[in-house]
Amino acid sequence: MTPDPTPATSFDAARTALLAAPESPNARLRFARLLRRSPRLARPGDEALLLSLLRDERLAPQPIAPAGWMLLKTTGRLPMPDADPASAAAWLEGEDLALALLAEAPVTSLPVERMLRALRRWLLLSDGARGFPRASDALTRQAALNGGAWPFDAAERTALAAGGPMLPAYRPPRPNPAPAAFAAPVTRAVAAQYEAWPYPVWRRSTDLPHDTFAAKLAALGPDAPVAPASPDILIAGCGTGREAAIWAARAPAGRVTAIDLSAASLRYATDRCAGIANIAFEQRDLHHVAGIGRRFDLVICSGVLHHLADPEAGWAALADVLKPGGVMGIMLYSKVARLVVRSARDRIADLLDRPVDDDLLRAVRARLTEDPAHPIVHSTDFYDLGGVHDLLLHAHEDPFDIPRIQAAIGRLGLDFLGFELPGAAARERYAAEHPHDPWRRDFAGWAAAERGDPQLFSGMYRFWCAKAA
Ligand SMILES: C[S@@+](CC[C@H](N)C(=O)[O-])C[C@H]1O[C@@H](n2cnc3c(N)ncnc32)[C@H](O)[C@@H]1O
Repeated sequence: MTPDPTPATSFDAARTALLAAPESPNARLRFARLLRRSPRLARPGDEALLLSLLRDERLAPQPIAPAGWMLLKTTGRLPMPDADPASAAAWLEGEDLALALLAEAPVTSLPVERMLRALRRWLLLSDGARGFPRASDALTRQAALNGGAWPFDAAERTALAAGGPMLPAYRPPRPNPAPAAFAAPVTRAVAAQYEAWPYPVWRRSTDLPHDTFAAKLAALGPDAPVAPASPDILIAGCGTGREAAIWAARAPAGRVTAIDLSAASLRYATDRCAGIANIAFEQRDLHHVAGIGRRFDLVICSGVLHHLADPEAGWAALADVLKPGGVMGIMLYSKVARLVVRSARDRIADLLDRPVDDDLLRAVRARLTEDPAHPIVHSTDFYDLGGVHDLLLHAHEDPFDIPRIQAAIGRLGLDFLGFELPGAAARERYAAEHPHDPWRRDFAGWAAAERGDPQLFSGMYRFWCAKAA
């Protein structure tokens, strides 16, 4: 039997293929995926490839960006976190890769953030923006992506009061929140949160999914429903539209209806998804989803139900609009995995009774970065302001455990079609340790596996269920 190629061998083969056919979408996508999986494999000489992928309208830049920062570090070009800020500004002004990285994706490395914060402070306090227009512009673009997440000190606050060209690099323009017109208190509070901080932050809609709707269903087992040729898809709680874009690409002959409470999130979604013909966005509370007036072949609801006052009631409303034979993909917070968040919240307990605003969210970040070993800093949500609000200061959350999921599915009369795991290593381990459960449906087996590894689900349970035909 031929052994599987190592990541380095696959990476080198993908690089060679891309250099031979630089415009091939498949070669570009494959190299981008390997960069995302193994950012350390980028090597000196890959800068031009990375730059062209970061600027490629067909690819999402966020997953590639860590490889770019890593490459700058391994080639000795990245200034140290405590570098002289004037020299760092001169470096950034001439470093095309770093400028593109700042413009395309939130920085998710604390040492890089520290160096850039000092650089930004120096540009502000020395009135240096005009001398470093490319650096200032890139920092402004970065703030637009991260929502102004980087903390700043009293001297900077005083200087910002006078306005000036660095202001948008600290305080990017924000959506004008519309008042949340929902009667139920939890719905109103949740809508108000996402109205001010739409979530998640993302850049481009065009990262082609590698699997179709049909392939997704086929992977759920021999008894899984077959995907219709033109599925009617509902995304419930679509946020800023990333999932809607992914499902529109997975089912190009289908139509996607995406609903959310937050008008600001829907504006963000409409902007990012401009040009995708098979998506319609609509402001609607999912409790009233029946008002759409038709049923769906697929309902996707990720990261939403645990923010309802009664998650099971919302889930029932979604099950009611599923066609017989239709499928649901759900993601729910895991109570055990959220213990990391609880431990982070313990560290900011004295800040939690303040009303949430940008200054509080920055203060939360500043406090938690005092301990760069805390696992919370590994969450990508930690690197933009809306993500920090969603991760640590949510208006309402009611996380699940596996028995509760099993009970809800039973009460709704749905068939369980199995859990999904984000990482290949965890998937393979579960398969090896539970050979009796090839389709990942043994609730007791999964509960035991999660007890052994509380981060097994990386924060959220992902699973599928179906309505009998
Ligand atoms: C954590 S975000 C998830 C966004 C998206 N599903 C994703 O994973 O990218 C939760 C979203 O659910 C929406 N939401 C919460 N309660 C809702 C409800 N009752 N009806 C519709 N949307 C709701 C929020 O406005 C917010 O945009």
